[in-house]
Order: sequence, then structure tokens, then C-alpha cells
Amino acid sequence: MDTVQKPLLRALTGEAVWPPPFWLMRQAGRYLPEYRLLRAQAGDFISLCTTPELAAEVTLQPLRRYGMDGAILFSDILMLPWAMGQDLRYAEGEGPLLEPIRDAEGLARLDPSAMRARIAPILETVVRVREGLAQEAPKTALIGFAGSPFTVACYMVEGRGGGEFATARRLAYSDPALFGKLIRLLVDTTTDYLLAQAEAGAEALMLFDSWAGLLSPGQFRRWSIEPTAAIVRNIRKVLPDIPLIGFPRLAGPLLPEYAQRTGVNTVGMDTGMDPRWAAAHVGIEFGLQGNMDPQALVAGGGAMEAEARSILSAMRGRPFVFNLGHGIVPPTPPEHVEALARLLRMG
Ligand code: CP3
Repeated sequence: MDTVQKPLLRALTGEAVWPPPFWLMRQAGRYLPEYRLLRAQAGDFISLCTTPELAAEVTLQPLRRYGMDGAILFSDILMLPWAMGQDLRYAEGEGPLLEPIRDAEGLARLDPSAMRARIAPILETVVRVREGLAQEAPKTALIGFAGSPFTVACYMVEGRGGGEFATARRLAYSDPALFGKLIRLLVDTTTDYLLAQAEAGAEALMLFDSWAGLLSPGQFRRWSIEPTAAIVRNIRKVLPDIPLIGFPRLAGPLLPEYAQRTGVNTVGMDTGMDPRWAAAHVGIEFGLQGNMDPQALVAGGGAMEAEARSILSAMRGRPFVFNLGHGIVPPTPPEHVEALARLLRMG
């Protein structure tokens, strides 16, 4: 199958494919019993992400059940700071914990030159997933990804998630020189990391800016839009045609400006975004992706179907990729994903 014909890649580059292609954020994960089994075998989450055989298998698991149009590399946005030497662990029930970076000394301890060697197993996963797709799901496209600089910086400075990243947001005001240095480092390393994924076989690239919506409009332009635009420019110099997706979660009315000024091909809509508003305000030259409430997928049944249909009707006639408004949550019954996949295939 010629990659140009993969429905996801067509939709991401401006074609109104119908029924729309779909994939789901966090489609590989704890709601699947086969994931929990491999996760237990790997021991910890970082080992799972850095063991290509297991990470590739986990990437392919949801496709075998539901035949999504997109496979997303199984990894995490925090593998980039980990690859630069920042201490990282995933504590059961607590999420990620990092050694916080809050001053010039902390920043100086990062070692970007270590990155290439430490991401090698992740790139090997990309190679294996492409081989797996060629065998098992020739119409499914592989999405590589990274966190956007601001969201990754949030975790690097705060040292943990679970709150509103007050320390990181305060640092961006109180010491913009230091925060800017961290962001610039992330622009450069994220560019390299994404280009390496594409070189290994990723067919589209996504930037997750999960916490962009915590910023004031001025800070959003400075720390979300500008660094993302810089990464897009860097990537386009090498790969002018690779489809790029940006997901500035909770951007609200700044979503159209984000699309215009970053130069991504497609923007992700979070759960709270009105798809009709997005369709009216984001230019038709951009794809839209999203945005069913992950809790509707937990609930299932008629309520879920009504949500999915209302999104479909708002997106009809424009380049669109069906997805959730944020990641699948662990209590999601796998049968509900099955029911959703069936509905989407009918369009
Ligand atoms: O299937 C996929 O979507 C691919 C893999 C993927 C993971 N994380 C796996 C993961 C992707 C694309 C991510 C992105 C990610 N990671 C984001 C951006 C998207 C978003 O959700 O906003 C963020 C903010 C992170 C950071 C992160 N990683 C957190 C906050 C957590 C803990 C919360 C949780 O769900 O446990 C993780 C851990 C994580 N990343 C898991 C998975 C499957 C759970 C780990 C486990 O199995 O124990």
C-alpha cells in the first residue's frame, strides 16, 4: 500500500476523507488486559518504553482489536528529559516524578549529547512497528510524537504532575531568561527527536501541549505558539511534507491563532472545544482532530453514540480525524471502544 493512500495521512494533509479516519489518544494502555499483562512482564514503565520488542507489541495491540487508522508510538513525552539525564520514575498511582530543575545549575546538569544513545531503543521500536504494520495493518499510519516544550518544561520544573504547575508558570514570569533557555533547549532537542522518529519510519508527527491552556494569552503566545512554530520551521527545512499535528489542550479561543502561527497541518480539539466553533474559526486548510469526551467512552451506549454523531455532523465536509478530547482512561470497557469503532466505520 502506497503511504499516500493511507486515509489518516490524506486527512492530515487537507483532504475531507469520509467516513473520517480515527485513532484514540492513549489507545494502548491500562484499559486493555493484554497491555496490563505485558506491562507486568516489563516491570516498570520506562523498561516497557525502552524494550523495542515489547513497546512495538503494545503499540500494535489496539489495532488488532479495533483497526484504527493511526498507530501511535508507545512511549511517553517525558522520555526526552529522561534521555537528557533527568531522573525520572513513574510511581504507582502518582504518575511521573522527576528531579526538579529550577536554577541554572539544574539546567546545566542536563546532557543533550546523551540523548541520541538513550533514544536508540525508541527509534528501534519505530522500525519494528512499521514492519508490523506492513504485515498486519497496511492502511494504518504510524504517528511519532513528543511533548511540546512548554508542557515538557512544566514537568521538568515542577518535578511532578497532578497540579496546575504553579512553580513552572511562576518561573516563566520571574526568570524568563532561565525559562527561555530551557524552552530553547527543548526546541532543539525536540526537533532532533522528532526528525529521528521520522527517519526511523514515523509517517506523521504530533506535539502534545497538554498544559498550554494554563497560560495567559501573552504567555501562551510566547511559550506555546512560538516554540511550536520554531519546531515546525526546523522540521519543514528537512521534511517539507510530513504531516504535523499540534494539540494545544484548553487553548479555547486561541486555537485558530495557534493553527495559523505554528504552521501545523492539523490541530487537536480538547473535550471542551465546540467542534462547530472550531469549524467556523479554524481555516479549512487545516485539519481538525478530536474530540469526544473520554468519559462518554466509559459510559458507552446511546449517550456515547449521540456524542460521536454530533461531532461527525459538525466535521462533515472538512479534513477531520476522529479522536477523543484527551486520553482514554483506564476504566474504559474495551467493548465500548469496539462499539465506537463500528459506528465510525459507518460514517
Ligand atoms: O497510546 C498512546 O497514546 C501512546 C503512548 C503515550 C503515553 N503517554 C503512554 C503512557 C502518549 C502519547 C503519552 C503522552 C503523554 N504523557 C502526555 C500528553 C498527553 C496527555 O495525556 O495530556 C503527558 C502529559 C504524559 C505524561 C504522563 N505519562 C503522565 C501524566 C502519566 C501518568 C498518568 C497515567 O495515565 O498514568 C504518564 C504515564 C503513562 N504514559 C502511561 C501510559 C500508557 C501509564 C503508565 C502505566 O502503564 O503505568
